[in-house]
This record gives sequence, C-alpha cells and structure tokens, in this order.
Amino acid sequence: MPDRVTETEGLLVVEGLTKDFETKDARLRKRVTRAVDDVTFTVDRGRTFAIVGESGSGKSTVGRVLLGLHPPTAGKAVLDGRDILGLRPREFRSIRRRIQMVFQDPLAAFDPRASVRHSLRPFALLGGATDRQSQDAVIDAAAGAVGLDVELLDRFPSKVSGGQLQRLSIARALIVQPDVVFLDEPTSALDVSIRGQVVNLLLERQMRDGVAYLLVAHDLRVVYAMAHRVAVMYLGQVVEIASRDALYADARHPYTRGLMDAADLEPDEIERTSVRLSGELTDADAARPGCRLVGRCPFAEERCNIPQPLVEVSLGHQVRCWKSIEEPRSMGIPDHAASSVPWSDVPNDFLPSRAMEE
Ligand SMILES: Nc1ncnc2c1ncn2[C@@H]1O[C@H](COP(=O)(O)OP(=O)(O)OP(=O)(O)O)[C@@H](O)[C@H]1O
Ligand code: SF4
Ligand SMILES: [Mg+2]
Repeated sequence: MPDRVTETEGLLVVEGLTKDFETKDARLRKRVTRAVDDVTFTVDRGRTFAIVGESGSGKSTVGRVLLGLHPPTAGKAVLDGRDILGLRPREFRSIRRRIQMVFQDPLAAFDPRASVRHSLRPFALLGGATDRQSQDAVIDAAAGAVGLDVELLDRFPSKVSGGQLQRLSIARALIVQPDVVFLDEPTSALDVSIRGQVVNLLLERQMRDGVAYLLVAHDLRVVYAMAHRVAVMYLGQVVEIASRDALYADARHPYTRGLMDAADLEPDEIERTSVRLSGELTDADAARPGCRLVGRCPFAEERCNIPQPLVEVSLGHQVRCWKSIEEPRSMGIPDHAASSVPWSDVPNDFLPSRAMEE
C-alpha cells in the first residue's frame, strides 16, 4: 500500500520531509530529536491543508523548514515544479514572495520600535512597489482589504489591539500576493470573541485571491471551518491524513479519535466508543520502532511494536494503525462511516461550511 500521497498536481508537494534537531542534555551529551519524520502531503492551489496534533508533535517545524528557517534533514518540497528545500539562502530569496507566514503572536511579529506602516513597507517592496508613494498606496489598500482604518497604520504595534494586529499580519502576508501562506496558530493568541472574525477574514481572502493555506491549529473547530484536507501528527509522524469531511466523520486512528474526544467534537449521531488516551507525549516514545502511541493507546498489543506504515483505507484517507484497519469493530469504529458530518457545533460566526463549496 502506498506510503505517499498520489496527487502530483498540487501547488506545494512535500515528500518525505524529515528534520532532526541536535541538542545537548544536562551532561552535555549530544541528543538528536527527530521533530519531523518522513512527512508527505500536498497543498492544493486555493485550498487549505491543516496539520493538527498536541504540543511538540512537529507541526511548526514542518512550516519552518518549508519557509527556509531551518535546513531539512531529508525530503523534498516542490513549489510549482521547483524544489525549494535544495535552494541556497540567496536562491531562496527569489521564492520568498511566494510563501509567507502569519504568526501565532501578532505583537511579536511586528517591530515594537516602528510604526505598523514602517513594518509593512518591506513587504510592499517585495510585492513590487518600489517607491514610497506606491508603497503607501499598496499598504493603505491592504489595510482597507482587511477592514481596518488607515489611521491605525501610523501607530506603534503596542497601541493596536491583538485582533487588529492579526488582521495587519494577514494584510502583510497577502500584500506580496503569495501562492501559499503558513498560518501557525493564527487565532490561538486572540480573544475567543474575535477568533471568528479572523477566520472569516482568512476565508474571504482565500475565496477572493485563491491563496493556499498551510494551517496549524489546536482548535479543531477552526480546522473544521477552514480546512479541505487534514493531517494528524504525533511525535513527528503523520498518523492519519484525509479530507476534512472524511476525518471528522470517520476518524480511525486512536490518536485522532482521542483528540476529537478531548475536544468534545464527536457528533452525537456517530456511535463510536470514546477513546481516552493516557499519559502525555514524551520524547522517549519517538525512538520506538513500532507505533509511538503504544504507551498511551487503550488498544495497544504486541503487534503494535512493529513499524506501522501509513495505509490507505479509502480514497485519499490513510491511517498508521494496523488494528483500526483490520479490526475496526474491536475499537468501536462503526462499519459504515457517517455519510456526512452531522456536526453542528461550528461557531455561528464562521462562514458557512466549506462542504457547500466542494
Ligand atoms: N530549534 C529547535 N531546536 C531543538 N529542538 C527543537 C527546535 N524546534 C523544535 N524542536 C523540538 O522539535 C519538536 C517539535 O517541535 P514543534 O515546535 O515543531 O512542535 P509543535 O507541534 O509546533 O508544538 P506546539 O503545538 O507547542 O507549537 C519538539 O520536541 C521541540 O522541542
Ligand atoms: S498500532 Fe496499536 S498502539 Fe498504535 S494506535 Fe494502533 S492499536 Fe494503538
Ligand atoms: Mg508550534
């Protein structure tokens, strides 16, 4: 069975991405942490690919390697036909415009000693506005496009609210007309009351500009509202990958089901035995040759100690757990997946479900 996604038409095709970090322990002995382990996925043009998983599962590292912030240990990332991981720093600058980032903490993303306008200027330049006048015009238009008054642009970041600053981060990323934006927890530092507004803004801009998003989020409601495809990561590995609807209606891997359970997302209509994971994610488990969830999984048995490949259970839906494929009933997985996601708990202030678009 394939261990690779089969679509090759994507805008950004990531294959076998691996990242090791070398660190030193308390006795100054060298340690290697495999933060990302053979991760493969495709981000399609104008679509959102989301990565979910607990803290430390390697989500941000995937994005940071793709943005050239860390060198990869292995793997390929082909953006529109060009491998961007093999580029030298100077060569990377040429694709810098095409891949942008929105950070979790908008305040940390702006220079505290400069006006917001000043921080946006290099991005306007990257987008092709070479003189001050045209940069100002582009910046004013970008602020308007995210629903903000231009007057805010001349303030220091500390004098702008978190929600407004995150809108400005989005304006800054989009000013250069990128192909793909890495959104690393774009709403988690914001008040719950304004998360919906930021999600809506991102969705509107995607519909308008056709930009693709690589989204990392803890909040499975935000992922539901934004994503077309979702990968679930555990200790550096993808353990399940599927379309959003397949994942939310027919989650297979005990880890995915544990995450959904913890987030209280299971639709009432799906009668699935709940999965409670024990313990916490630990680095030591990353070195296991077999399934890394063994120590926490209520279904673990001897066979789980051998390496688990990602196996396709239905078109585009892959799972790294032999038991959920061969003995799903013993894990409380119903024979037939729900035909649609009857989950109605999407916050009302998010745009209508993406399912309508599909
Ligand atoms: N620069 C670094 N040097 C050493 N180890 C690192 C570095 N960056 C990340 N790591 C390690 O890599 C692993 C994955 O980290 P990463 O930040 O990608 O996780 P994450 O899924 O984004 O977590 P969170 O949800 O907390 O943001 C962790 O064990 C982390 O300690
Ligand atoms: S392979 Fe075994 S330990 Fe791993 S998730 Fe499946 S049942 Fe649990
Ligand atoms: Mg992170």
